[in-house]
Amino acid sequence: MREAASDKKSEKKAGMRGKFSGRIGYVLAVAGSAVGLGNIWRFPYLAAKYGGGMFLLVYLLLTVTFGYVLIVSETALGRMTKKGPVGAFHCFGKSLPFHFGGWINAVVPMIIVPYYCVIGGWVLKFLIEYLLGNANMLAGDGYFPEFIASSGSVELWFLLFSFFVFAVILAGVEQGVERVTKVMMPVLVVLAVFVAVYVMTRPGALDGVKYFLIPNFKDFSWMTVVAAMGQMFYSLSIAMGVLYTYGSYISKDVDIEKSTSQVEIFDTGIAMVGGLMIIPAVFAFSGGDMATLKAGPSLTFITLPKIFANMGGGTIIAIAFFLMFLFAALTSAISIMEASVATLQDELHLSRFKSSLIMVIVTFVLGSASALGYGVWDGIRILGMQFLDFFDFLTNSIMMPIGALATCFLILRVVGFKKIEEEVEISSAFHRKKLYYFFLKYLAPICIAIILLSSIANVLGWISL
Ligand code: ALA
Repeated sequence: MREAASDKKSEKKAGMRGKFSGRIGYVLAVAGSAVGLGNIWRFPYLAAKYGGGMFLLVYLLLTVTFGYVLIVSETALGRMTKKGPVGAFHCFGKSLPFHFGGWINAVVPMIIVPYYCVIGGWVLKFLIEYLLGNANMLAGDGYFPEFIASSGSVELWFLLFSFFVFAVILAGVEQGVERVTKVMMPVLVVLAVFVAVYVMTRPGALDGVKYFLIPNFKDFSWMTVVAAMGQMFYSLSIAMGVLYTYGSYISKDVDIEKSTSQVEIFDTGIAMVGGLMIIPAVFAFSGGDMATLKAGPSLTFITLPKIFANMGGGTIIAIAFFLMFLFAALTSAISIMEASVATLQDELHLSRFKSSLIMVIVTFVLGSASALGYGVWDGIRILGMQFLDFFDFLTNSIMMPIGALATCFLILRVVGFKKIEEEVEISSAFHRKKLYYFFLKYLAPICIAIILLSSIANVLGWISL
């Protein structure tokens, strides 16, 4: 009773804040945020490159330990304070470290969302070309590099994708974000399973399934751990402000522990289906050639179209694949935009419309730099990187680990484990609390430091990620 009353009070204090209708809406929205480019594009190429089954095993272990701790922490802090990252840190102090901790978590989504919309635009372009029957053109040598260098066309597809994201954001949390995610996520799952089953039943694909699912210790390297750790961060939308913000939209009866497990299962499940689509396809159509397998980021946009062009019924499969890919990118972009808009609403006391308008400008400026960075602005480099690569590096490799470290310190040094425990236990038993505490105190800071140092070593050319 007391909790329910205090919940009502804090909701009243939070004023016109958006809210999810219930646990299902919330879980689907978080899963929608988690399942994105990371699952369909990044996870398969990293798994292909860094040891197949070995990468998968390390990734799974990290998700249920390190990933679990950070999701529970950010969600509990969001729900406890009814604030996004900046407001949440400010609830515990107003000195410099609190400003820094809050803002670093809040600025990350504002930098990510513009370039995410540019990649979303590429996906939209590929889908439309497949629908127009241009499968052979997409499979042509040099098509993708030429397209991303085309500037005007990339800008146009980026703006189209962004327009849809903003339309959903302006419709609000329940009517926009939740409604769109509830439709897209089930369709995404059906399409993903359909494509994976089709690919896995092609002759020769079974070797790819084995490479991806069966760990082989000879494939283990230090880079397997580093790559899996970075991927887990990205894929679970950790340190992107999203989990704080979505946590602030849920009521006190939502079971945080159960929801976290469901999101992890959903996200990892779709990443595995992503792997089962792409790696067996490489084995079936390129005989598991190592150079093809280790193609990296171009695997989805260069290798896959070639595979689709050589596959019976390839265009249908390609349409299903890129539609699913588009839905995954949209639901994630919406969540990252929502986190950005919510911070501006909270901290600058602006309406949702005005906050969205600021994000339109930020998205246009940073997104255009990323869209043109492979074309007319190719000559401009930051630390030797094009704009898109630089924004990706800055957020994923530097700012997100620091943001996550700030969250760990906030709990360990200021909030105290007891308060997190009480917050989680308002709605359910906290079954894994001993593990949570152990991982938070010992594992998370070490893992985060490893990601940070290896990223810096990578950019300095000491190691190759
Ligand atoms: N979590 C989102 C993704 O995987 C950002 O793409």
